[in-house]
Amino acid sequence: MAAVKRILPRRHRRRFDRSTAKTLRAGSPAHYTAYVGPPDEYDLMGAMQFRLLATLGLRSSHTVLDFGCGSLRLGRLLIAYLEPGRYVGLEPNKWLVDEGIDQELGRSVLRVKQPRFFDNDDFDATKCGGPFDFVIAQSIFSHTGMDLMEKAISTSGRSLTPTGVMLFTTVPPDDQRPPFQGNGWRYPGLTPHAAPDVAALIARLGLAGREIPWYHLRQRWWIVSNDPAQIPDPRYDPHLLGGTLRVPKYAASVGDAPPPIEADDEFEHE
Ligand SMILES: C[S@@+](CC[C@H](N)C(=O)[O-])C[C@H]1O[C@@H](n2cnc3c(N)ncnc32)[C@H](O)[C@@H]1O
Repeated sequence: MAAVKRILPRRHRRRFDRSTAKTLRAGSPAHYTAYVGPPDEYDLMGAMQFRLLATLGLRSSHTVLDFGCGSLRLGRLLIAYLEPGRYVGLEPNKWLVDEGIDQELGRSVLRVKQPRFFDNDDFDATKCGGPFDFVIAQSIFSHTGMDLMEKAISTSGRSLTPTGVMLFTTVPPDDQRPPFQGNGWRYPGLTPHAAPDVAALIARLGLAGREIPWYHLRQRWWIVSNDPAQIPDPRYDPHLLGGTLRVPKYAASVGDAPPPIEADDEFEHE
């Protein structure tokens, strides 16, 4: 999967300090905070995922696979929270993990929390150990065809504990962005998938699952499990909204009108 490895050589990276990096385009390989999404949301996107996991009962004794963990946007929070050896990150772009450790956590975390990392790029979660109480794949299937989504969900399903759940996001199609018909990996371009197609894939794989309303500025969240009892009943949806108060860009998450979109927000990503 050559496209996955298409990154800037190390000597061209880290030319930016933190505040300048926030002005880079989402998907830019020039900085670890930009490659994985809008750099000025690096903090919020990690917190959004951590809050969802915590709302769904994450305990420090759980084992979590962060599928496509990037530069540890979520991982830096999870590694601190989980007991040693309980965090597993899958990321073929190893420079992102290195930057996340060096810039966000410090190398001592490797000794203290013993996170484990895998760099296979074949979307096979069964190669990452397990079993996992949670697998989370945030903004991964927003860049894959149905072929890779199927492989990732199917291998993740086989890697879950009997009560484990997988969480993932997809980009809904709209007038400007029709459903993606191709296969493979596309980055930083988007691969919209219609909800009925995702639901049909989950059913075809013999898993239980549904879309949940947890707020995401650009995508939709899904939960799947081998055990239908692990899928929260819709009556709990009021606990699964994920709103963020007092951040203007996320005003829609609590039902307020968002501010006008700035030109810089128009990225072909996430
Ligand atoms: C939009 S980023 C999301 C990163 C992370 N999930 C987050 O929310 O911060 C997509 C990530 O998928 C990674 N990726 C690319 N190819 C992959 C593969 N074959 N398997 C797993 N992850 C892959 C990219 O390197 C990148 O870090």
